[in-house]
Amino acid sequence: MNINIDKVITLVHSTKPLIMNETMSRDVTVKGLADFVTKVDTSVQHLLQKELDHLYPEIQFMGEEDHMQNVDFSKPVWILDPIDGTTNLIYGYRHSAASLGCYADGHICAAVIYNPFSDETFHAVRGKGAFLNGKSISVTDNRHLKDSLISIGTSPYNKELAPDNFKVFQAVYENTLDIRRSGSAALDLAYVACGRLDGYFERNLKPWDFAAGALLVEEAGGQVTDYYLNPLNFSKNQDIVASNGFIHKELQSYL
Ligand code: IPD
Ligand code: CA
Ligand code: CA
Repeated sequence: MNINIDKVITLVHSTKPLIMNETMSRDVTVKGLADFVTKVDTSVQHLLQKELDHLYPEIQFMGEEDHMQNVDFSKPVWILDPIDGTTNLIYGYRHSAASLGCYADGHICAAVIYNPFSDETFHAVRGKGAFLNGKSISVTDNRHLKDSLISIGTSPYNKELAPDNFKVFQAVYENTLDIRRSGSAALDLAYVACGRLDGYFERNLKPWDFAAGALLVEEAGGQVTDYYLNPLNFSKNQDIVASNGFIHKELQSYL
């Protein structure tokens, strides 16, 4: 798949005024338990879908705020989370991102994760490395779980998983340096890619939560699998573990 990544980055940057619009981020509709959508989510998706259709009419589109998600994974697909970290956005927490991946032939071939609050753009192209604001990034070289900083994802829309999840969180906490909970799966993956975290895991993520971030981690030299160490399937929900690669099996053994 031939993607002009600079053009795609410029397009994703054009969402900044929408994402930083506080009036729109306070315009909230309830989708489900602890699950909200704001005017920002829908406007960002609308803008990116329209422009991507114009730039790449041959690539299908799948986005979180879409009601029609009948895509054919035997052909290329854009996978978009217009805002990853909607609860953070509503609270003014300044840790949310637009996350866009291009899927083709079983892989993500290009990825952009953009946090306008920190002016940070993570991008990767398959086989060409991972970058933060244009500079090459790589995962940590930490070899031991006990010395690792790990981000946990609480699966906030699946509170029924809490008893199992919190047992795992305690075990991981007791066997690592410390844990973090950021509220954005896409930024957790980007942070593993750039070495701000050694690992991250969360159950029942949706393809738009992990598509772009998975490529970033791999291109930065790390590893991303499901909880059973299988390669990812981008057409369905997955339990995800990402790491610098060195601690992967040890971290996975607690999940
Ligand atoms: C959520 C965030 C959160 C993670 C959830 C995701 P949303 O995405 O990434 O960190 O724990 O599992 O669904 O709803 O803000 O796009
Ligand atoms: Ca998300
Ligand atoms: Ca979202």
